[in-house]
Amino acid sequence: MMRRMLLNMSAARRPTCTRRMTRCECAGVSFEELRALMDARRLAFSDACQQTGCGQTCTACLDDLGAYLTDASEAHQRSASDAREPRLDSSGEGAQG
Ligand code: FES
Repeated sequence: MMRRMLLNMSAARRPTCTRRMTRCECAGVSFEELRALMDARRLAFSDACQQTGCGQTCTACLDDLGAYLTDASEAHQRSASDAREPRLDSSGEGAQG
């Protein structure tokens, strides 16, 4: 009944939620756990989802999971890049230590 009512509303009047999901509720797996599993076992996204059941039932989590993994990947790349960059002191010279 509620679903039918929401479907009949115009898109502009539909309630929206700005909070992101942080876990797959159907599988009971957090996005963080999924990412850790992918890293530890070097699994592709689809393999990790298949093994955990994440995103395999209602699929409501997939958009937020994709955003989470993209953000996590970008943060990882930034930290790896920061680690490679030589540290500069205020004069622009390489800092020691
Ligand atoms: S919440 Fe992830 S499949 Fe349902």
